[in-house]
Amino acid sequence: MTKAVFDTPDLESLIEKHGNLEAYLSHLFACVFDQLGFDQKYAKVQVSARPELSQFQCNGAMPLAKIAKKAPFDIAERIVECLANESIFKTIEVVKPGFINITLTNGFIAKWLAATAKLKHLGCKQVETPTKVMFDFGGPNVAKPLHIGHIRSPLIGDCLQRVYRFCGDEVLSDVHLGDWGTQMGMLIEEIRKMYPDLPYFDPDFTGEYPKESPVTVDELSEIYPRASKRCKEDEGELEKARLATADLQQGRRGYFALWRHFVDISVSALKKDYSELGVHFDLWKGESDVQPLIHDMVNEALEKEVAEKSQGAIIVPVARNESDKTPPLILVKSDGAVMYGTTDLATILERVKDENAQKIVYVVDKRQSLHFKQVFAAAQKMGIAQDAELVHIGFGTLNGKDGKPFKTRSGGVMRLSTLIDEAKSRAGLRDIEGISEQEAKDIVNKVALATVKFADLSNLYTSDYIFDLDKFSQYEGKTGPYLLYSAVRIKSILRKVGTVTEAEISPATSESELKLQLTLASLPSAVEKTYQKCEPHHLCDYAYNLASVFNKFYADSPIANESDLDLKNARIALCMLTLAHFEVVLNLLGIDIPEKM
Ligand code: ARG
Repeated sequence: MTKAVFDTPDLESLIEKHGNLEAYLSHLFACVFDQLGFDQKYAKVQVSARPELSQFQCNGAMPLAKIAKKAPFDIAERIVECLANESIFKTIEVVKPGFINITLTNGFIAKWLAATAKLKHLGCKQVETPTKVMFDFGGPNVAKPLHIGHIRSPLIGDCLQRVYRFCGDEVLSDVHLGDWGTQMGMLIEEIRKMYPDLPYFDPDFTGEYPKESPVTVDELSEIYPRASKRCKEDEGELEKARLATADLQQGRRGYFALWRHFVDISVSALKKDYSELGVHFDLWKGESDVQPLIHDMVNEALEKEVAEKSQGAIIVPVARNESDKTPPLILVKSDGAVMYGTTDLATILERVKDENAQKIVYVVDKRQSLHFKQVFAAAQKMGIAQDAELVHIGFGTLNGKDGKPFKTRSGGVMRLSTLIDEAKSRAGLRDIEGISEQEAKDIVNKVALATVKFADLSNLYTSDYIFDLDKFSQYEGKTGPYLLYSAVRIKSILRKVGTVTEAEISPATSESELKLQLTLASLPSAVEKTYQKCEPHHLCDYAYNLASVFNKFYADSPIANESDLDLKNARIALCMLTLAHFEVVLNLLGIDIPEKM
């Protein structure tokens, strides 16, 4: 193999092709493996598990040795022989029993990084063929204000939709309102008790219904728990609510008009809450939107004998065999009303047919895993999701310090807006010279959101975690404010020393600079992992690492007072690239960086 292959001048297209350093090194190793007649699948190079020994490692000699019945050390030596003269390696050596340890030259790392800086996505790999992905998250229910339990879905969902877009997929997100279940009938019946004379309840009324809602959104949020309590305590009341729901779903005019008010006033309130969180949805659809599709869908399922009648209801058995205890999915209840699973199925149908969705990702509490298991299985059986991949990102619970689902001091559920206010009060108003009151508010806002978002996203999403604002709002440690502080610090350094246009990233001259450069070069891996596994915490780990290594670099490397102009400019260029990385990664997490703080 010639040197020219490895020392290629066209790093930019290599980066676009391979996406990250490990992938590129793996490719080089694969060439050598091929040459030596070894199976390429063992040529994987990964970031070293022991960074004090080397930057990267390849462990392929061990499985190869088993197959070839030879010593792994000898195999590794043959591989290394083929690579030893390549100029990109500072060291490449075999250690017992057959690990190959790799360290790149500072020159190559700088060149690689300089090339990523010129690329649109800082070298992060773009998908070859975009997939049409729909995200279903948020899932708020009409008439219920958002509370702390609602926070994970929009934060995780929003991060994932940003990452998917960033990687080049075609993304559509749907808030998917809970607007079609028995709760709707409960509300109708409760309002009938309050205002029995309203025209909505008169079956003979043929005129126009009032334009204004008879209740406000705040009233609605009080009516709902009252109605729900009443139905829990009294089977007769529940029965009435069920009937009202079935009537609504079958299109009873007055109920529909009343229901429209609930949805409209709830949606305005929800839009306000979500926009305060900085979370965006492309579609504001809900369970009710697919009502027109349900009749035919159910009939078809019956015709195909995928669905069956059972005690007056229509169900889809989804258990795969005798020992599979998954209960059947109920499509239509005996009173004629449809359920949450039915609308989910019809929504899949709609998304696949009308939106050409190839993948649908549901970001919903893991306590709903059984529901999605049933829905996905029924969708397969009914043949409505043949070409679409269905994924449930089931996240864990947000707990209080007692390890139980978070409650306020008085034992109630904390409203989402209260939570944000508490985060704001901890962010505090700092004394910053020359900023207006509005700017100060904006800073507090950004710090508060960074506090909450980073705390949430930095956990593996499946885990439950303890919600501890005191800890999350610290300016030290793995927190949102620490990250913002680090990014803002770079902004202020650059304001002071100015930016450069010409300077390229140059080979590191210190250990801390090298660490910073290597960390920067690992952004594409963090993005790729998040994309492939739908796990935002990789981005959080990256951002936190970046902040730590940058702060170390900055402590070691004077900038403003550096008299060697080339060195100074190279450091400025590195600060600029670090800031660009913060901007990308924090943006993917849904976190805004203020100018000052
Ligand atoms: N509204 C539901 C709830 O409160 C969550 C909706 C999740 N999305 C879905 N397509 N099922 O439990």
